[in-house]
Parts: sequence; structure tokens; C-alpha cells
Amino acid sequence: MDTKIFKADEEGLKSAVELIKNGETVVFPTETVYGLGANALSETAAEKIFAAKGRPSDNPLIVHIAKKEQCGCVAAEIPQKAKILMDKFWPGPLTIIMKKRPEIPNGVTAGLDTAGVRMPEDKTARDFINFCGCPIAAPSANISGKPSPTNFEDVCRDMCGRAGGIIEGKPSKVGVESTVIDMTVEPPAVLRPGGITVEQLEEAIGKVVCSANLKDKQAPKAPGMKYKHYSPKAKVYILKGSNKEKIEFLNKISVFKQKFAVICFDEDINELKKHFACASLGSKNSPEQAAAKLFTLLRAFDDTDIEEVFAPEISEEGLWLAVKNRLYKAAAENVLDAKSAKTILFACTGNTCRSPMAEGIFKAIFKNCYCTSAGLCAAENQPASKNAKTALKNMKIDISMHRSKQLTADMIKAADKVFVMTKSHLSALCGFKNVETLGKAAKIDEEVADPYGGGEAEYTACAEQLKKMILNLEP
Ligand code: TXA
Ligand code: MG
Repeated sequence: MDTKIFKADEEGLKSAVELIKNGETVVFPTETVYGLGANALSETAAEKIFAAKGRPSDNPLIVHIAKKEQCGCVAAEIPQKAKILMDKFWPGPLTIIMKKRPEIPNGVTAGLDTAGVRMPEDKTARDFINFCGCPIAAPSANISGKPSPTNFEDVCRDMCGRAGGIIEGKPSKVGVESTVIDMTVEPPAVLRPGGITVEQLEEAIGKVVCSANLKDKQAPKAPGMKYKHYSPKAKVYILKGSNKEKIEFLNKISVFKQKFAVICFDEDINELKKHFACASLGSKNSPEQAAAKLFTLLRAFDDTDIEEVFAPEISEEGLWLAVKNRLYKAAAENVLDAKSAKTILFACTGNTCRSPMAEGIFKAIFKNCYCTSAGLCAAENQPASKNAKTALKNMKIDISMHRSKQLTADMIKAADKVFVMTKSHLSALCGFKNVETLGKAAKIDEEVADPYGGGEAEYTACAEQLKKMILNLEP
């Protein structure tokens, strides 16, 4: 698809509006993140949004309006407390979920009888929606699963060739998406923390529940919150601890030769950058800076050969909650305590089949350990074999970033536990007390045979066997 680029002046916006009128998609800037917009009254236009993003169809879109009066075209009922929020926080980074009008197609709300409505503060966004003359359905303008784009360059990378047009705006001021609050329940429920804080909401309307609470493991109510999100290609971990503890931990794991970088704050960067590649989220005292920088910083890792990123623990106060929520999602809830996190090493022969599959499965199950893999006779820097990647993809685990490495004595010494696949691996490493066969550790008396050269079925069987064993581990 040929994507047209528009300036954010009146002439540019009016040309972009023509695309919307023709049922196409247009990316526009907002104060939170860039949105991928289409006519919210058209089912077929909404379908184009889902296609361009590769977005699961059960994840509803937010409907954007230019003026408060337009809310009545989207919402069937506006509860009293929602009116208070609209008066206080609109225009701004707050999405209010209300019962929807029948004119809003099911394709926009993923079949729900509610719609999220938002009136952005950004002037370009509001002028654009105003000129369109209809409400605009828009998710963040990223390819599904990637960090949301907060500047024109990032948006172009994801959406050139996918969207009908892109409006060239300024970098997003807030940098994390809007807060989503469900006003169809009492007390109202915050489904996603964002630019308006829980404290601000409670001051306006009294108690709200925060089902976006990071410790709350209940099924997410905002369908979008259950998906993998905000992930750069590199594996992200949250690393808790003092600078000294982090330096010790990271020095220890550096023998595993993964290329890693540390996300930190200005106050810590001088100390940490003596040892490691670092990027700062700004000052520890400024959640605004952290929010504005976060997605740009995560996306920038995709241009490097960094394989692992260690991000700091974040507070839950005010706007920090939104920053923490995005970082924890980027980390897929992998949280390591620098002082006590166990280091697990899987080893097989070539480090392209069994051990990378074991590593991938282990990481998906045990979120508080550091895990990597290596081979007793490995060629360096080879990706996992095609069928190993496919077998794990079927388990919704992505090991496409894996690169093989040769096992060394230093690696074994740095690991708390090393799991090998067969007795012959074990006898090759017989001098080391922390090496065990995976079968023995899992109390399943089986060897993990090499599927190398086999078809998809052999690899799937091997992955299933590994999963069965790994589920039995107590690392
Ligand atoms: O700041 C923002 O909100 C940006 C800009 C473009 O406005 N938009 C955005 O949209 O972040 P999106 O689609 O990436 O995230 C919308 C979130 C998803 O988690 C979705 O599941 C939830 O809001 N959501 C939308 N409508 C909903 C509804 N009717 N009920 C429950 N959750 C809803
Ligand atoms: Mg999004």
C-alpha cells in the first residue's frame, strides 16, 4: 500500500480527511501516543485498522471525539460521574467506557455493548477529528505487540505501507497511553493506568478500583491488557536491587555473553555506565520524563544488537503506575531480584534445538529466574533450528532471537544449576557438582533425545517432553 504523508497544517489535515471519507486509515498524533484512525461508524473501515496492526479482533478500539457534545453520538448513556470526569479531564489522556449507541458497529468494540470514548488534548488531533465530521476509532499506531509510537519516525517504521496516510506531528507530550476507566460498574474500575492518575480520578469522583493493579492476577477486563505488549526484540527483565547488587549480578551473568543494556535513572547512570551500556529514563523525581521517554527508548533497542534489557523497579505512585505497568508488560512479568535470583543454564550438544527450546519454555514459566542456554559442541551465533522455532511458536513462545554459544567452564561456575539433556552430556561435565540431567531434576526417568534433522512432529514431541519436565522443576 502506498502511504501518503501529510503536514499537520490545515491543507494537510483536509487532504487526510479525504482518505477517512473514502473509508481508509490515517495515523494522527495525540498527546499520549500516535493513533491509527478510521471512521468509527464504519465496520469496514475499522476492519482495515485491525488488518494494518495485525491486531486480534477481540480487542476493542477507542472512539475519539473532537468536542464533548460529540460524546452523545457514541455513548447511549452518560453516567453522572462520567460527566464529572469529562468536565475535569477532557480534553486529555482519559478514556471513559460507557454503554455504546447502536450506530457504533460491533467491529469497533469487538462485540462489546460498551465503547471507550476519548477526547484528546492535542490540537492537531482535535482539528483532524473535527474536519472528519465523524468519531474516529483509533488504537495506538504500532504493529500489535510493539511499543506504541510516540514520534513521527517510529510511526513511519510501523505504518508505512500499512496505513492509508500519516500526519506528521510533534513527539507525543505524555508518552504513555490514556487511562482507561470503566464507568459502567460501581465503583468505577481503572482498566489501564495512564496519563490521568488514579489519585486524580479519586479526587474527582471518590473511590475507584484499580483492576490494572499489577499484583491482581484476575482475568483482565480490558481485552487489550491480556496480550503481549510493548516488547522490543530484546528480552526485557525488571531487575530489583541497589546499584551494587545490580553490578554484581550483571557481572556474574556477563560470562553468558548475551549482549545486554541497562535502563536506569540519571541519578544512577554515572555509576552503572562504568560497567555496562546504559540508557536513562530521566530523573527519579520525574515520572513525566520517564513516561515521555519510555517507548522511544524501548524502540531504539531494535536498532542495536542488544539481546537483553534490564529495567529498574518503578514505584506505583501517581504517573509512575502507568510507567511501571508498561515496563512490566514489556518484561512479560519477568522480575529478578539482583541479590537472590537463581541463574539457570540449559545445555545440549549444538545449542540450536533442545536447549534453546528448554530455555524458552523455562522463561515462560519461571519469571523470577535468569535463564540461558549453551552447547557442548556449539557453533557460535547460529539461530535455533527452523522446526524448534515452529514447535515453540505453537506454544506461543518466540525464540527467533536465540543465537547459539559454546558452553564454557566459567558459564557452568556462574550458574546455580545446569540442566543437560542426556547422561552422556552429564558424563562430559562430570567434574561439576551443579550439573544434572533435566530428567533427574524433574524426577522423570527419561533422556531428551536429539530431534536434530527431524520433522516438525519430532520437534513438537521434544518440546512437549521438555515442557512436562520443566513444569516439574523447583529451581
Ligand atoms: O492514549 C490512547 O488511549 C491511545 C491514543 C491513540 O488515543 N490509544 C490506545 O488504544 O492506546 P489501544 O487500542 O492501543 O488501547 C485501548 C485499550 C485496550 O487495552 C482495549 O482493550 C481497551 O482500551 N478498551 C477499549 N474499548 C474498551 C471497552 N469497550 N471495554 C473495555 N476495554 C476497552
Ligand atoms: Mg495499544
